[in-house]
Amino acid sequence: MEKKIKSLQLEVEKKIKDLKSISDLNQLKSEYLGRKSVFNNFMKELKDVAKEDKPKIGQMINEAKQSIAKLFDIAKGTIEVKIVEKKLKSETVDVTLPGKSFNQGSKHLISQVIEEVEDIFIGLGYTVKEGPEVESDEYNFEMLNLPKNHPARDMQDSLYISEDRLLRTHTSPVQVRSLLENSKHEPMKIICPGKVYRKDDDDQTHSHQFVQIEALVVDEKASLADLKGTLLFLARKLFGEQREIRLRPSYFPFTEPSVEVDVSCYKCNGVGCSMCKGTGWIEILGAGMVNNNVLESAGYDSNKFQGFALGMGVERIAILKYGIDDIRAFYTNDLRFNKQF
Ligand code: PHE
Repeated sequence: MEKKIKSLQLEVEKKIKDLKSISDLNQLKSEYLGRKSVFNNFMKELKDVAKEDKPKIGQMINEAKQSIAKLFDIAKGTIEVKIVEKKLKSETVDVTLPGKSFNQGSKHLISQVIEEVEDIFIGLGYTVKEGPEVESDEYNFEMLNLPKNHPARDMQDSLYISEDRLLRTHTSPVQVRSLLENSKHEPMKIICPGKVYRKDDDDQTHSHQFVQIEALVVDEKASLADLKGTLLFLARKLFGEQREIRLRPSYFPFTEPSVEVDVSCYKCNGVGCSMCKGTGWIEILGAGMVNNNVLESAGYDSNKFQGFALGMGVERIAILKYGIDDIRAFYTNDLRFNKQF
């Protein structure tokens, strides 16, 4: 019997060593230590053992059982650790691997310049207004003192959609809309940024579509001096605090008097260089005092109200500020160009 117990013990120990899974372990455990197991049978066989050997054999069986139970516990622990290790290995995240890189977009230069100009005017108390790009002939021309067949209509080659509808040629119709909206004739300071369209052949300096920003102030005492102050402030914010401005007489049907505004060259400081074609001045925008006819047709008493307006091409400002030599670069969307700003 002693031999039997010993050899059985050796046999289980060997089997335990080869165990791979918890379910195999449980099965083996019940086979050897369970109720109907080999070791339980030993206990039954104990009654046939000689009386004087009983305590010794009994103790041996118990010790063998305990040591096997211990081995099962250790094996269980080892298997569990192995399972966790395997799982960890298969789910390992290498935190040193480079991450997926995302291309971060940025604002188009035109949007940046629009926002820069908006910020300047918002700082002066102006509000931003928008209007439709498909406009009526009435708002785009007639109410801006440009009746049908007026020769000045040729200044802006237009793209008509129907007899009396066109793609707006400038942002000035938003002036008309805002004046009409302001039925109580409260003092008004607005800027209107937006796309405009002209029947131009695209080349280095022309585009059939571009962006304008218009500014309009109407109240009972807006003066040419206020316009000059506003223009100087704008020019210095855009092109540097050392800049001066110069107004040259011009003509727009919707303003009287009208001016063309030049800024002193920021490259040569007014001395004369290739940028300013030797003149020391660079033309930046058009402006003037709102023509009485415009105020009257929007229902304002021109003896009581006056106003000034200015209109600038955003592409022109961007071209001057950033030294760009082709207006088409804004629209061909070459990322190498766009990414520079
Ligand atoms: N609307 C004019 C243009 O497109 C610009 C302008 C606006 C001039 C306001 C004077 C006052 O040419």
